Amino acid sequence: MTNVINQAIDEKFALFNADCVDVAKTLPDNSIDFSVYSPPFESLYVFSNSERDMGNSASSADFWQHYRYLIAEMFRAMKPGRLVAVHCMNLPTSKTRDGYIGIKDFRGEIIRSHQAAGFIYHSEVCIWKDPVVAMQRTKALGLLYKQLRKDSAMSRQGIADYLVVLRKPGENPDPVTKTPESHSVDLWQNYASPVWMDVRQTRTLQYMSARESDDERHISPLQLDVIERAIDLWTNPGDLVFTPFLGIGSEAYVALQMGRRACGSELKRSYFDLAVRNCHEAQQAKAGDLFADQES
Ligand SMILES: C[S@@+](CC[C@H](N)C(=O)[O-])C[C@H]1O[C@@H](n2cnc3c(N)ncnc32)[C@H](O)[C@@H]1O
Repeated sequence: MTNVINQAIDEKFALFNADCVDVAKTLPDNSIDFSVYSPPFESLYVFSNSERDMGNSASSADFWQHYRYLIAEMFRAMKPGRLVAVHCMNLPTSKTRDGYIGIKDFRGEIIRSHQAAGFIYHSEVCIWKDPVVAMQRTKALGLLYKQLRKDSAMSRQGIADYLVVLRKPGENPDPVTKTPESHSVDLWQNYASPVWMDVRQTRTLQYMSARESDDERHISPLQLDVIERAIDLWTNPGDLVFTPFLGIGSEAYVALQMGRRACGSELKRSYFDLAVRNCHEAQQAKAGDLFADQES
C-alpha cells in the first residue's frame, strides 16, 4: 500500500501507520462488518504537526473536506445493513478562537455528512459526563458557580458525549444474532437506554496499563465500557472491526479481546506503536483465557 509508513499484520489484526483515507481506499467493497471510533474533534486537540493530522486542520472547512473523503470510502467498504458508531461531542467555542462563547453542532455535522454519503441515521446514545469534572478541567465560564451571581444567562450545562450510529442501507448478508443465555432482557434494557449513565469515565486502556510518556498527554482514549457494549451488541464473533483513528488502539484491543478481528490506521508513530503493543497484549490475554478455560 502506498503512503504506509509502518504496518503490523497478525492473524487477527492489521494496523497501519498511515493516513486513514489512504488505508480506507484499499479496503475491499462491502468487507467491513462494523466500525467504531472517535474522530479528532476538529482542532480542539492537536495530536501532531503533520498536515495529514485531522486535528491539525487549518480551518473547520479543511477538517470536513478531509473527513468526508474518509466517510465516502467507509460507505463503500462497509457491508450493507451494517453499522458505523462514531463517538463524539459538540464543541465549545471560545472568544479568542471563534469570536464568541457557545457550542458548535459537531455531532449534527457528523450525522449530516454521513447522510450525504448515503448512510442512514440509525441510532444514538447520549453518554453522561460529570459537569464538575468538565468545569475543573476546562474552567469554562458557563460551568462556573460564580457565573450564577454575575449573569446566569451565560450559564450552561456540561457537554455530553454521544455514540452516533449510522447504517449502510441494504440487506445485512450476515445477521448478528444473540441468545437469551448471552443477552438477558435486563442487559438489553440497559443497552437500549437512550442515555448511558453508567459509563466508567476512567476505565480506559491508558488507565488500565498505566502508560508513562509525556507524548501521550493529549490523547483521551475511548472508554472501554462504550466499546465493549457497541461491539457486543452490533457484531458477531469473528467479525472485522475497522477503526480509522486508532490512537493507542482501544477499539482494536477490545475487538480482539472479544474474539473479533481488527483493522485500523493511526498517523502518529508513538500512538501507532502503542496500539500495536496493546493489540499483541489483547491477543496474549485471549490465549491465556483459552488455557484458563481448559484448566477449569
Ligand atoms: C480521538 S483520538 C483516538 C483515540 C482512540 N479512540 C483511543 O482510544 O486510543 C484521534 C486519533 O486520530 C489520529 N489521526 C488524526 N488524523 C489522522 C489521519 N488523517 N489518519 C489517521 N489517524 C489520524 C490522531 O493522531 C489521534 O491519535
